[in-house]
Amino acid sequence: MSIRNIPTTPFSDQKPGTSGLRKKVRVFQQAHYLENFVQAIFDSIAAPKGATLVLGGDGRYYNQTAIQTILKMAAANGFGKVLVGRGGILSTPAASCVIRKHKTFGGIILSASHNPGGADGDFGIKYNSSNGGPATETVTEAIYAKSKTLGSYRILEAEDVSLYKFGSTLLGNMQVEVIDPVSDYAELMESLFDFTAIRALFASGFRIKFDAMHAVNGPYAQEILEHRLGAAPGSVMNALPLEDFGGGHPDPNLTYAHELVEIMYDEDDAPDFGAASDGDGDRNMILGNHFFVTPSDSLALLAANATLIPGYKQGLAGVARSMPTSAAVDRVAQALNIPCYETPTGWKFFGNLMDAGKVTLCGEESFGTGSSHVREKDGLWAVLFWLNIIAVRKQSVELIVREHWAKYGRNFYSRYDYEGLPTEAANGVMQHLRASFATLGGTQFGRYTVKTCDDFSYTDPVDKSISTAQGVRIIFSDGSRIVFRLSGTGTEGATLRVYLEAFEADEEHHHLDAQVALKDLIDIALQISELRQRTGREQPTVIT
Ligand code: G1P
Ligand code: ZN
Repeated sequence: MSIRNIPTTPFSDQKPGTSGLRKKVRVFQQAHYLENFVQAIFDSIAAPKGATLVLGGDGRYYNQTAIQTILKMAAANGFGKVLVGRGGILSTPAASCVIRKHKTFGGIILSASHNPGGADGDFGIKYNSSNGGPATETVTEAIYAKSKTLGSYRILEAEDVSLYKFGSTLLGNMQVEVIDPVSDYAELMESLFDFTAIRALFASGFRIKFDAMHAVNGPYAQEILEHRLGAAPGSVMNALPLEDFGGGHPDPNLTYAHELVEIMYDEDDAPDFGAASDGDGDRNMILGNHFFVTPSDSLALLAANATLIPGYKQGLAGVARSMPTSAAVDRVAQALNIPCYETPTGWKFFGNLMDAGKVTLCGEESFGTGSSHVREKDGLWAVLFWLNIIAVRKQSVELIVREHWAKYGRNFYSRYDYEGLPTEAANGVMQHLRASFATLGGTQFGRYTVKTCDDFSYTDPVDKSISTAQGVRIIFSDGSRIVFRLSGTGTEGATLRVYLEAFEADEEHHHLDAQVALKDLIDIALQISELRQRTGREQPTVIT
């Protein structure tokens, strides 16, 4: 076995986005493409010789090939050990858990999250630091800079390693240790939640349906919900992970998880609780019997009920949400008299706050919720949090949410996604919006008056780094908001996201459908942005 130094030329498009480098599988299959990026990671993180790395992915198409390449490159770059999930599989939160539990130098996660998989689908790779969280922007910028100047990469010439038997093998001088992807994670969940209470809930006939969407969480959900907690066999649907997610779009929302939605809205046989998670297991959608919980409300509700949960009974240090996420959690924070931080979109911004002990819970409107137990959002964790609350309060999902609204008011919320737009048209909308700031202030649109508008920028309270141009905000005098942002995870053209939020204190109006309550704001958003004229799109691709 010898280490080879392979000459290469840089690619110009390896800038990590909201969550690592995401491209079509075909892009990653170009000669040297993956290798260049991995070498750029290794050069930037400068791990000491003999350091340990965690490696795993969501099992999508190209996972296996990439894992073998990365192992050989890690061996050639002086790592002493790699902990790899059996078959090369680790959900994103489980990878974070393993990095933290085994105190490794960092980890590499292979995933394109909720994007479709298969030979024509997407692939992705990101680096997580020793805190278990996505590398900060300083690190991802360094990786990008390195990728633009790279002249060669190092790789061990060796046979592929078998990843199906637990235990250690040597690859050059490096140990490859195959670990059970589920056990460390399941143990962590048991340490946070009252499994006895949840087991009693299921034993009393409470019915759950969890849609793993043929993605990574199937085995995790089966082990935890069915085996350890006693949910009825078959409670986990689409449990078998598939390289192409069975041709589906593994994004847990009302559009893509429609199979689950139909079950939860069945006329006479709907289960009590429904949930789904995404390709790499970090997102969650929560449903009750004929009831959908918006992710922003879910975050607020978990914060309000946290002290019912053993792992959080001491209370929360603080909470954080991404800027476009609704301010529902802000109201809870205010009532609890704890700080609430507003960060740019992307989980990497929560890490510093958690490491500094400033926040315990955090979340995003994009079906992401998590806590300081790991440094990634965590789909199954959110499901268990909900189940634990229900086991204690003995109320339905709907009733718990309605009582929450009655106490704190309701933040009506919706997001419109316009996917696959021509890049120039999408950039044109954003430029037009920025150019309108000067004239928009004070303008009245029906019952709404523009109070302020800006492009969100964030100074990290811990390392003082500044992130600019994080989304255009139009804030009205009653606190209602419209936010416009370009996605940083898409792989085709541009995706424009429009986020809408209106607060309603009066319980009389809480029953309204969000689309009805937000109708005026939607019209204003279309008018101000000239979105239809500039993109030629009449309707959004997805509404959540
Ligand atoms: C999207 C979500 C964002 C999330 C990210 C990774 O990013 O909007 O909240 O952190 O996926 O799951 P975007 O495509 O908007 O950049
Ligand atoms: Zn994900």
